[in-house]
Amino acid sequence: MSSPASTVILGTGAYAPARVLTNAELALTIETSDEWIRTRSGIRERHIAAPGETTSDMAVHAARLAIADAKLQLADIDLLIVATITPDLPMPATACIVQHKLGLATSTACFDLNAACSGFIYALDTASAMIGSGRYRHALVIGAEKLSSIVDWKDRTTCVLFGDGAGAVVVGGSAQPNIGLLGTKLGAYGDCVDLLCIPGGGSNAPATAASLAGGDHFLKMKGKEVFKYAVRGMEEAARDILEQHAIPAHQIALVIPHQANLRIIEAIAQYLELPLERFFVNLDRYGNTSAASIPIALDEARRSGRIKSGDLTLLVAFGAGLTYGSALLRW
Ligand code: UT7
Repeated sequence: MSSPASTVILGTGAYAPARVLTNAELALTIETSDEWIRTRSGIRERHIAAPGETTSDMAVHAARLAIADAKLQLADIDLLIVATITPDLPMPATACIVQHKLGLATSTACFDLNAACSGFIYALDTASAMIGSGRYRHALVIGAEKLSSIVDWKDRTTCVLFGDGAGAVVVGGSAQPNIGLLGTKLGAYGDCVDLLCIPGGGSNAPATAASLAGGDHFLKMKGKEVFKYAVRGMEEAARDILEQHAIPAHQIALVIPHQANLRIIEAIAQYLELPLERFFVNLDRYGNTSAASIPIALDEARRSGRIKSGDLTLLVAFGAGLTYGSALLRW
Protein backbone atom coordinates (compact mmCIF):
# COMPACT_ATOMS: atom_id res chain seq x y z
CA MET A 1 0.00 0.00 0.00
CA SER A 2 1.30 3.48 -0.79
CA SER A 3 1.02 6.36 1.69
CA PRO A 4 -2.06 8.61 1.27
CA ALA A 5 -1.68 12.37 0.71
CA SER A 6 -3.87 13.03 3.76
CA THR A 7 -6.04 11.29 6.36
CA VAL A 8 -9.74 12.05 6.62
CA ILE A 9 -12.72 11.25 8.85
CA LEU A 10 -15.02 9.12 6.69
CA GLY A 11 -17.86 8.59 9.17
CA THR A 12 -18.99 9.31 12.73
CA GLY A 13 -21.33 7.68 15.26
CA ALA A 14 -22.38 8.18 18.87
CA TYR A 15 -24.30 6.42 21.59
CA ALA A 16 -25.60 7.37 25.01
CA PRO A 17 -27.40 5.04 27.44
CA ALA A 18 -31.19 5.50 27.69
CA ARG A 19 -31.22 6.40 31.39
CA VAL A 20 -31.05 10.18 31.95
CA LEU A 21 -30.14 11.40 35.44
CA THR A 22 -31.20 15.00 36.07
CA ASN A 23 -29.71 17.50 38.51
CA ALA A 24 -33.00 17.48 40.42
CA GLU A 25 -32.72 13.70 40.94
CA LEU A 26 -29.14 14.08 42.20
CA ALA A 27 -30.33 16.69 44.69
CA LEU A 28 -32.51 13.99 46.26
CA THR A 29 -29.48 11.88 47.25
CA ILE A 30 -26.67 14.39 47.95
CA GLU A 31 -26.50 17.94 49.23
CA THR A 32 -26.59 19.85 45.96
CA SER A 33 -29.05 21.72 43.78
CA ASP A 34 -29.91 22.10 40.11
CA GLU A 35 -29.01 25.76 40.45
CA TRP A 36 -25.47 25.06 41.83
CA ILE A 37 -24.67 22.46 39.16
CA ARG A 38 -26.02 24.59 36.30
CA THR A 39 -24.33 27.83 37.30
CA ARG A 40 -20.94 26.25 38.19
CA SER A 41 -20.72 23.83 35.26
CA GLY A 42 -23.57 24.30 32.75
CA ILE A 43 -24.67 20.67 33.20
CA ARG A 44 -28.41 19.86 33.43
CA GLU A 45 -28.44 16.08 33.01
CA ARG A 46 -26.24 13.14 32.11
CA HIS A 47 -26.73 9.60 30.72
CA ILE A 48 -25.99 6.64 32.98
CA ALA A 49 -25.25 3.10 31.73
CA ALA A 50 -27.78 0.39 32.60
CA PRO A 51 -26.71 -2.29 35.09
CA GLY A 52 -24.49 -4.68 33.16
CA GLU A 53 -23.98 -2.24 30.27
CA THR A 54 -20.23 -1.93 29.70
CA THR A 55 -17.85 0.54 28.07
CA SER A 56 -17.36 -1.97 25.24
CA ASP A 57 -21.15 -2.27 24.71
CA MET A 58 -21.43 1.51 24.28
CA ALA A 59 -18.35 1.55 22.04
CA VAL A 60 -19.88 -1.11 19.78
CA HIS A 61 -23.11 0.91 19.30
CA ALA A 62 -21.16 4.05 18.32
CA ALA A 63 -18.78 2.05 16.09
CA ARG A 64 -21.59 0.40 14.08
CA LEU A 65 -23.07 3.84 13.33
CA ALA A 66 -19.67 5.25 12.31
CA ILE A 67 -18.92 2.34 9.97
CA ALA A 68 -22.39 2.64 8.38
CA ASP A 69 -21.93 6.42 8.03
CA ALA A 70 -18.60 5.81 6.27
CA LYS A 71 -20.41 3.32 3.95
CA LEU A 72 -17.83 0.68 4.78
CA GLN A 73 -18.01 -2.99 5.81
CA LEU A 74 -16.53 -4.56 8.96
CA ALA A 75 -13.92 -6.24 6.76
CA ASP A 76 -12.59 -2.82 5.71
CA ILE A 77 -11.38 -2.00 9.26
CA ASP A 78 -7.79 -3.06 10.02
CA LEU A 79 -7.00 -0.86 13.05
CA LEU A 80 -9.03 -0.24 16.22
CA ILE A 81 -8.11 2.18 19.00
CA VAL A 82 -10.32 2.67 22.06
CA ALA A 83 -9.57 5.78 24.10
CA THR A 84 -10.86 5.20 27.63
CA ILE A 85 -10.10 5.51 31.33
CA THR A 86 -12.91 3.09 32.19
CA PRO A 87 -11.91 -0.13 30.41
CA ASP A 88 -14.19 -3.15 30.94
CA LEU A 89 -11.24 -4.88 32.68
CA PRO A 90 -7.85 -3.65 33.95
CA MET A 91 -6.46 -5.98 31.30
CA PRO A 92 -6.68 -6.92 28.46
CA ALA A 93 -7.57 -3.93 26.31
CA THR A 94 -11.23 -3.03 25.77
CA ALA A 95 -10.35 -2.73 22.06
CA CYS A 96 -9.95 -6.54 21.95
CA ILE A 97 -13.41 -6.97 23.52
CA VAL A 98 -14.90 -4.48 21.04
CA GLN A 99 -13.19 -6.28 18.13
CA HIS A 100 -14.85 -9.55 19.13
CA LYS A 101 -18.31 -8.04 19.85
CA LEU A 102 -18.29 -6.15 16.53
CA GLY A 103 -17.06 -9.17 14.59
CA LEU A 104 -13.95 -7.49 13.17
CA ALA A 105 -11.27 -9.65 11.55
CA THR A 106 -8.66 -11.14 13.91
CA SER A 107 -6.05 -9.43 11.71
CA THR A 108 -7.26 -6.05 13.07
CA ALA A 109 -4.65 -4.30 15.25
CA CYS A 110 -6.36 -3.51 18.60
CA PHE A 111 -5.23 -1.42 21.54
CA ASP A 112 -6.48 1.02 24.19
CA LEU A 113 -5.12 4.49 24.75
CA ASN A 114 -5.28 6.31 28.09
CA ALA A 115 -5.00 10.09 27.84
CA ALA A 116 -8.22 10.70 29.82
CA CYS A 117 -10.38 13.53 28.42
CA SER A 118 -7.77 14.26 25.71
CA GLY A 119 -7.83 10.57 24.74
CA PHE A 120 -9.85 10.96 21.55
CA ILE A 121 -7.47 13.58 20.11
CA TYR A 122 -4.43 11.46 21.06
CA ALA A 123 -6.10 8.39 19.44
CA LEU A 124 -7.08 10.35 16.32
CA ASP A 125 -3.48 11.51 15.91
CA THR A 126 -2.16 7.97 16.44
CA ALA A 127 -4.62 6.49 13.93
CA SER A 128 -3.85 9.22 11.41
CA ALA A 129 -0.10 8.54 11.68
CA MET A 130 -0.66 4.79 11.23
CA ILE A 131 -2.94 5.32 8.21
CA GLY A 132 -0.48 7.92 6.89
CA SER A 133 2.29 5.28 7.02
CA GLY A 134 0.43 3.35 4.33
CA ARG A 135 0.40 0.18 6.48
CA TYR A 136 -3.30 0.44 7.51
CA ARG A 137 -6.33 1.33 5.39
CA HIS A 138 -9.21 2.14 7.74
CA ALA A 139 -9.05 2.88 11.47
CA LEU A 140 -11.92 2.82 13.91
CA VAL A 141 -11.21 5.38 16.64
CA ILE A 142 -13.54 5.22 19.62
CA GLY A 143 -13.85 7.30 22.79
CA ALA A 144 -15.99 5.37 25.29
CA GLU A 145 -16.53 5.81 29.00
CA LYS A 146 -18.57 4.41 31.86
CA LEU A 147 -17.58 7.11 34.34
CA SER A 148 -20.56 6.23 36.56
CA SER A 149 -18.48 3.19 37.59
CA ILE A 150 -15.55 5.23 38.96
CA VAL A 151 -17.22 8.23 40.59
CA ASP A 152 -18.03 8.26 44.28
CA TRP A 153 -21.78 8.90 44.32
CA LYS A 154 -21.43 10.34 47.83
CA ASP A 155 -18.85 12.96 46.74
CA ARG A 156 -20.84 15.98 45.52
CA THR A 157 -17.70 17.74 44.26
CA THR A 158 -17.23 15.16 41.48
CA CYS A 159 -20.30 12.95 40.95
CA VAL A 160 -22.47 15.76 39.56
CA LEU A 161 -20.01 16.41 36.72
CA PHE A 162 -19.66 13.10 34.88
CA GLY A 163 -21.71 10.89 32.53
CA ASP A 164 -21.50 7.79 30.32
CA GLY A 165 -21.42 7.41 26.53
CA ALA A 166 -19.38 6.65 23.43
CA GLY A 167 -18.43 8.29 20.15
CA ALA A 168 -16.59 6.82 17.17
CA VAL A 169 -15.05 7.86 13.89
CA VAL A 170 -13.64 5.96 10.91
CA VAL A 171 -10.35 7.36 9.58
CA GLY A 172 -9.04 6.58 6.10
CA GLY A 173 -6.55 7.89 3.56
CA SER A 174 -7.23 10.36 0.75
CA ALA A 175 -5.30 11.11 -2.43
CA GLN A 176 -6.29 14.78 -2.07
CA PRO A 177 -3.73 16.86 -0.13
CA ASN A 178 -4.52 19.53 2.50
CA ILE A 179 -7.79 17.97 3.66
CA GLY A 180 -8.88 16.04 6.77
CA LEU A 181 -6.54 16.06 9.77
CA LEU A 182 -4.17 18.96 9.03
CA GLY A 183 -2.27 18.67 12.31
CA THR A 184 -2.34 18.14 16.06
CA LYS A 185 -0.66 19.52 19.15
CA LEU A 186 -0.39 17.18 22.14
CA GLY A 187 1.16 17.64 25.56
CA ALA A 188 0.90 16.96 29.29
CA TYR A 189 1.69 18.54 32.66
CA GLY A 190 3.01 15.33 34.21
CA ASP A 191 3.84 17.11 37.45
CA CYS A 192 0.09 17.46 38.15
CA VAL A 193 -0.92 13.79 38.27
CA ASP A 194 -2.31 14.18 41.80
CA LEU A 195 -4.85 16.85 40.82
CA LEU A 196 -7.07 14.32 39.04
CA CYS A 197 -6.53 10.60 39.57
CA ILE A 198 -7.73 7.30 40.97
CA PRO A 199 -5.18 6.70 43.75
CA GLY A 200 -5.89 3.01 44.43
CA GLY A 201 -6.05 -0.22 42.48
CA GLY A 202 -2.97 0.26 40.28
CA SER A 203 0.41 -1.48 40.67
CA ASN A 204 1.56 1.33 42.97
CA ALA A 205 -1.24 0.62 45.43
CA PRO A 206 -2.99 -2.69 44.74
CA ALA A 207 -6.51 -2.96 46.16
CA THR A 208 -6.82 -4.02 49.78
CA ALA A 209 -9.85 -4.22 52.07
CA ALA A 210 -8.68 -0.94 53.64
CA SER A 211 -8.23 0.86 50.30
CA LEU A 212 -11.67 -0.24 49.17
CA ALA A 213 -13.24 0.88 52.45
CA GLY A 214 -11.43 4.24 52.07
CA GLY A 215 -12.78 4.74 48.54
CA ASP A 216 -9.30 4.86 46.94
CA HIS A 217 -10.70 3.28 43.77
CA PHE A 218 -12.89 6.33 43.08
CA LEU A 219 -11.93 9.34 40.95
CA LYS A 220 -10.52 12.24 43.03
CA MET A 221 -10.26 15.76 41.70
CA LYS A 222 -9.04 19.09 42.99
CA GLY A 223 -11.57 20.99 40.87
CA LYS A 224 -10.33 24.55 41.31
CA GLU A 225 -6.70 23.73 40.39
CA VAL A 226 -7.79 21.52 37.48
CA PHE A 227 -9.96 24.37 36.19
CA LYS A 228 -6.94 26.69 35.93
CA TYR A 229 -4.80 24.10 34.12
CA ALA A 230 -7.73 23.23 31.84
CA VAL A 231 -7.97 26.83 30.64
CA ARG A 232 -4.18 27.15 30.30
CA GLY A 233 -3.75 23.80 28.49
CA MET A 234 -6.61 24.34 26.07
CA GLU A 235 -5.51 27.90 25.30
CA GLU A 236 -1.95 26.71 24.63
CA ALA A 237 -3.09 23.80 22.48
CA ALA A 238 -5.44 26.01 20.45
CA ARG A 239 -2.91 28.83 20.02
CA ASP A 240 -0.03 26.51 19.03
CA ILE A 241 -1.93 24.65 16.33
CA LEU A 242 -3.34 27.85 14.80
CA GLU A 243 0.12 29.46 14.79
CA GLN A 244 1.69 26.31 13.34
CA HIS A 245 -0.71 26.48 10.38
CA ALA A 246 -0.79 30.29 10.16
CA ILE A 247 -4.57 30.27 10.52
CA PRO A 248 -6.24 33.20 12.32
CA ALA A 249 -8.87 32.05 14.83
CA HIS A 250 -11.72 33.78 12.98
CA GLN A 251 -11.25 31.34 10.07
CA ILE A 252 -12.33 28.44 12.31
CA ALA A 253 -15.96 27.67 11.45
CA LEU A 254 -16.56 25.51 14.53
CA VAL A 255 -14.60 24.69 17.69
CA ILE A 256 -15.48 21.38 19.30
CA PRO A 257 -14.07 21.58 22.83
CA HIS A 258 -13.98 18.89 25.48
CA GLN A 259 -17.28 19.20 27.33
CA ALA A 260 -16.23 19.60 30.98
CA ASN A 261 -17.53 22.97 32.09
CA LEU A 262 -19.27 25.81 30.21
CA ARG A 263 -17.14 28.35 32.10
CA ILE A 264 -13.96 26.73 30.71
CA ILE A 265 -15.41 26.90 27.17
CA GLU A 266 -16.35 30.56 27.70
CA ALA A 267 -12.78 31.31 28.81
CA ILE A 268 -11.35 29.69 25.64
CA ALA A 269 -13.85 31.62 23.48
CA GLN A 270 -12.73 34.86 25.09
CA TYR A 271 -9.06 33.97 24.63
CA LEU A 272 -9.55 33.17 20.91
CA GLU A 273 -11.80 36.24 20.53
CA LEU A 274 -14.54 34.10 19.02
CA PRO A 275 -18.26 34.28 19.84
CA LEU A 276 -19.59 31.40 21.95
CA GLU A 277 -21.88 30.47 19.02
CA ARG A 278 -18.74 29.28 17.19
CA PHE A 279 -18.34 26.56 19.89
CA PHE A 280 -20.31 23.31 19.88
CA VAL A 281 -21.76 22.75 23.36
CA ASN A 282 -23.78 19.74 24.48
CA LEU A 283 -22.46 19.30 28.03
CA ASP A 284 -25.85 20.43 29.36
CA ARG A 285 -27.24 17.04 28.17
CA TYR A 286 -24.24 14.75 28.71
CA GLY A 287 -22.03 16.16 31.45
CA ASN A 288 -18.35 15.31 31.14
CA THR A 289 -17.93 11.98 29.31
CA SER A 290 -14.10 12.20 29.20
CA ALA A 291 -12.71 10.54 26.04
CA ALA A 292 -16.23 10.19 24.61
CA SER A 293 -17.04 13.89 24.85
CA ILE A 294 -15.45 15.16 21.61
CA PRO A 295 -16.52 12.28 19.32
CA ILE A 296 -20.12 12.51 20.62
CA ALA A 297 -20.10 16.28 20.00
CA LEU A 298 -18.46 15.83 16.58
CA ASP A 299 -21.14 13.35 15.54
CA GLU A 300 -23.93 15.67 16.72
CA ALA A 301 -22.31 18.64 14.98
CA ARG A 302 -22.06 16.76 11.67
CA ARG A 303 -25.55 15.29 11.80
CA SER A 304 -27.12 18.65 12.71
CA GLY A 305 -25.45 20.34 9.71
CA ARG A 306 -23.01 22.47 11.75
CA ILE A 307 -20.06 21.25 9.63
CA LYS A 308 -19.94 21.94 5.89
CA SER A 309 -17.54 20.87 3.15
CA GLY A 310 -14.41 23.08 3.22
CA ASP A 311 -14.96 24.15 6.86
CA LEU A 312 -12.07 24.32 9.31
CA THR A 313 -12.86 22.66 12.65
CA LEU A 314 -10.73 22.87 15.78
CA LEU A 315 -10.90 20.11 18.40
CA VAL A 316 -9.41 20.99 21.79
CA ALA A 317 -9.29 18.98 25.00
CA PHE A 318 -7.84 18.69 28.45
CA GLY A 319 -7.88 15.92 31.05
CA ALA A 320 -6.21 13.84 33.75
CA GLY A 321 -2.47 13.48 33.38
CA LEU A 322 -2.79 16.38 33.06
CA THR A 323 -2.97 15.95 29.28
CA TYR A 324 -4.02 18.43 26.64
CA GLY A 325 -4.41 18.34 22.88
CA SER A 326 -5.79 20.04 19.80
CA ALA A 327 -6.53 18.92 16.26
CA LEU A 328 -7.21 20.96 13.14
CA LEU A 329 -9.50 19.46 10.50
CA ARG A 330 -10.61 20.60 7.05
CA TRP A 331 -13.78 18.88 5.74
O1 UT7 B 1 -12.41 16.75 32.26
C1 UT7 B 1 -11.38 17.57 32.71
C2 UT7 B 1 -11.25 17.61 34.16
N1 UT7 B 1 -12.25 18.29 34.91
C3 UT7 B 1 -12.51 19.60 34.83
O2 UT7 B 1 -12.22 20.28 33.89
C4 UT7 B 1 -13.21 20.25 36.01
C5 UT7 B 1 -12.57 21.55 36.37
N2 UT7 B 1 -13.17 22.19 37.55
C6 UT7 B 1 -14.43 22.66 37.55
O3 UT7 B 1 -15.17 22.50 36.59
C7 UT7 B 1 -14.92 23.42 38.78
O4 UT7 B 1 -13.82 23.70 39.60
C8 UT7 B 1 -16.02 22.67 39.58
C9 UT7 B 1 -17.33 22.66 38.78
C10 UT7 B 1 -15.57 21.26 39.87
C11 UT7 B 1 -16.27 23.39 40.90
O5 UT7 B 1 -16.59 24.75 40.69
P1 UT7 B 1 -15.92 25.89 41.59
O6 UT7 B 1 -16.54 27.17 41.20
O7 UT7 B 1 -14.42 25.76 41.43
O8 UT7 B 1 -16.41 25.52 43.03
P2 UT7 B 1 -15.55 25.13 44.33
O9 UT7 B 1 -14.89 23.82 44.14
O10 UT7 B 1 -14.68 26.30 44.68
O11 UT7 B 1 -16.69 25.00 45.40
C12 UT7 B 1 -17.42 26.14 45.86
C13 UT7 B 1 -18.35 25.71 46.98
C14 UT7 B 1 -17.62 24.95 48.09
O12 UT7 B 1 -18.20 25.33 49.31
P3 UT7 B 1 -17.42 26.36 50.28
O13 UT7 B 1 -16.11 25.69 50.60
O14 UT7 B 1 -17.27 27.62 49.48
O15 UT7 B 1 -18.36 26.48 51.43
C15 UT7 B 1 -17.98 23.50 47.79
O16 UT7 B 1 -17.99 22.70 48.94
O17 UT7 B 1 -19.36 24.82 46.47
C16 UT7 B 1 -19.38 23.62 47.25
N3 UT7 B 1 -19.75 22.52 46.37
C17 UT7 B 1 -21.03 22.21 46.07
N4 UT7 B 1 -22.20 22.75 46.48
C18 UT7 B 1 -23.32 22.22 45.98
C19 UT7 B 1 -18.93 21.68 45.70
N5 UT7 B 1 -19.66 20.81 44.97
C20 UT7 B 1 -20.97 21.13 45.20
C21 UT7 B 1 -22.19 20.60 44.72
N6 UT7 B 1 -23.34 21.18 45.13
N7 UT7 B 1 -22.23 19.57 43.85
